[in-house]
Amino acid sequence: MQEHISANYNENNIHKFLEILYKEKGWDFRNYRKSSLSRRILRRLSAYNISSYEDYYRILTSDPAEYERLFLSLTVKVSEFFRDPEVFGILKDAIASMAPDIRDGLRAWCCGCAYGEEAYSLAILFSECLKPEVLKNTKIFATDIDNKAIEAARNSIYIEDVLHNLSCAIRDKYFIKKERGYKIKYSLKDLVRFGQLDIVRNPPLPRIDMLFCRNLFMYFEKELQKNVFEKINFALKLGGLLVLGKSEVLPVQFMSNYREIKKSSRVYRKELCK
Ligand SMILES: C[S@@+](CC[C@H](N)C(=O)[O-])C[C@H]1O[C@@H](n2cnc3c(N)ncnc32)[C@H](O)[C@@H]1O
Repeated sequence: MQEHISANYNENNIHKFLEILYKEKGWDFRNYRKSSLSRRILRRLSAYNISSYEDYYRILTSDPAEYERLFLSLTVKVSEFFRDPEVFGILKDAIASMAPDIRDGLRAWCCGCAYGEEAYSLAILFSECLKPEVLKNTKIFATDIDNKAIEAARNSIYIEDVLHNLSCAIRDKYFIKKERGYKIKYSLKDLVRFGQLDIVRNPPLPRIDMLFCRNLFMYFEKELQKNVFEKINFALKLGGLLVLGKSEVLPVQFMSNYREIKKSSRVYRKELCK
């Protein structure tokens, strides 16, 4: 990086910095919301008391661990078990109504699964409400751009704070108390397959009955939302359920193919094109 680029918020400056991250690391944040990225990058700069991308780039090249800290900062991991609990209530009813069609098991996908809280919540829901013969053919695929998060999800140890939506009975049924927190029991773990997948750059998983993509779209600009939604739409079977985050909405182009099963729930069923 030759020129001096101020890190004060400016579309053009951040764009140049994001191009560099793409070229050097293959991280494609170029079409994420700039205002949110800029705030996060500025936080890294203030940790070093500097104010230009140029100085920050010097730090990145001399200390590769800073790249990891930056990546962590850019990929927000806030989550918890049974986040927005009412959504899981709606899914429970929806699963009951799908019963005749899911005899061969379900394929669910949590896209942007952070440390696994959402995927394991779904595994608990399935364990509680699917018949054993359906459960044994059911799989939850949980993916995230961040491989370190995926490793942590596989390790599956959680602090009490992220479990606050669970009753003690459910917690004791599915977790083992460890010194450092609560660990998921093997029976539940076996339902979930974790893997790294960047939904911006990689193709989607196929033939999905239930797809969680919550609190990820909100970080994308409109055009990227549309591109990623094409993949989501491809992944989901007809009649399948899509779950978005509470502050996310379907891109207009897809509204006619999806019906929200309860108003403002952000749980949608994919329907035949009207
Ligand atoms: C705020 S968390 C959401 C976690 C969970 N879905 C929830 O709603 O509680 C957003 C997650 O999306 C992941 N993410 C960001 N960009 C991504 C991408 N291009 N592909 C896949 N995951 C991505 C982040 O690493 C982070 O774990």
